[in-house]
Amino acid sequence: MNVVLISPGYPAEMPHFTRGLAEVGARVLGVGDQPREALDPELKRSLADYLHVRNLWDEDATARAIHAWTKGRSVDRVECLWEPGMILAAKVRAALGMPGMTVEETLPFRDKVVMKDVLAKAGVRTSKHQRATTANEVRAAAERFGLPVIVKPVAGAGSADTYPIRDGADLERALSALGNVPEVTVEEFIEGEEHTYDTVCADGEILFENVAWYRPTPLVAKLNEWISAQSTCLRDIERPEVAIGRQLGRQVLRALGWRTGFTHMEWFRTAKGEAVFGEIGGRPPGARLVHAMNYSCDADLFRGWAEAVCKGRIEQDLRKKYNAGVVFKRAIGQGRIRAYEGLDRLMARYGEHVPVVDLAPIGAPRRDWKSSAIGDGWIVVRHPDLQTCLALGDAFASELRILAG
Ligand SMILES: Nc1ncnc2c1ncn2[C@@H]1O[C@H](COP(=O)(O)OP(=O)(O)OP(=O)(O)O)[C@@H](O)[C@H]1O
Ligand SMILES: [Mg+2]
Repeated sequence: MNVVLISPGYPAEMPHFTRGLAEVGARVLGVGDQPREALDPELKRSLADYLHVRNLWDEDATARAIHAWTKGRSVDRVECLWEPGMILAAKVRAALGMPGMTVEETLPFRDKVVMKDVLAKAGVRTSKHQRATTANEVRAAAERFGLPVIVKPVAGAGSADTYPIRDGADLERALSALGNVPEVTVEEFIEGEEHTYDTVCADGEILFENVAWYRPTPLVAKLNEWISAQSTCLRDIERPEVAIGRQLGRQVLRALGWRTGFTHMEWFRTAKGEAVFGEIGGRPPGARLVHAMNYSCDADLFRGWAEAVCKGRIEQDLRKKYNAGVVFKRAIGQGRIRAYEGLDRLMARYGEHVPVVDLAPIGAPRRDWKSSAIGDGWIVVRHPDLQTCLALGDAFASELRILAG
């Protein structure tokens, strides 16, 4: 089976998916804007061929280049697991005359307003929302919904340019900060606990599902440097408080006609116990959440995705054995990382429950906490008991300090 895979080397998780494809016997035809020489040697071993294009985002030219490059070879699938490339992948499918998601079917996954319009029409509980291109349209929508609201780009990612608005001063501040964003969505602000609902599907059938609990919400983590955010994959997703999110997510998959591949959804559980839909990506989650899923099942979902795509089934035991949480650390201070405080003590106490400690090395410059989801390091903790797993995560969140300067 020949699979065209767009951007096999970036972002960080992509080489794992590329390896997964190669392991299930696919010939991976990679296309990316990284020069071949810049690719990791291990990634190169997973690729049967590679096309370097200068500008991946000149979508029509890239689709034409792929068409010419694959002439005379049979291509079975075109895949892209990186959200900005989803429309490109659909255009390549059209250029090659291949089945799979079309541009039109992909649009709701890339435009938050189209997404919510389709979902609201299908009866999915989601926030009220309104597209806005001028400051006055933003003000009018805020007036109509009543505060608090949230303002964010229609094609946002990583909570960038996302502003919660609780009063008039917040609104004016957000408007001046949003000067360079051409189009935003204004949404009713949903107060609640935020979770993911992630799936791997084949031909419309859900083969694997996961719910992770964000502590705190990505927005709160994005606004407060001192926070060590945690995402915990739950072992028990049958509990009613969690099952309501799965039901909502299944409704979304049906409404959008999703068939094959990884999806990543976000939903809120309000204080009243209602599930409200946040958003869906037609791609795996980033920020090491697939790793956390793997540690929750002792499985390999990078390969699992490849099995789903190439064989329509996953031949692994995907039962969840653990709750598995990933904790993200941000260094304290500026400049270079100089010490890890508390790590030895934590590892001596809890090491058997900690399969991953991946911290920026001593001497490395600390990262920009606003633009990096991982920050200066990530740790995975796991335990069959949820409360114990949360306590383990909290210990690493509060007692491990990465010092810079
Ligand atoms: N209507 C809302 N009510 C409350 N909080 C919201 C709302 N919309 C977004 N948020 C918060 O802002 C975060 C980012 O918003 P959203 O998920 O829509 O954008 P994104 O930038 O695409 O996210 P991602 O980080 O998943 O790429 C959400 O995870 C949530 O914490
Ligand atoms: Mg999101």
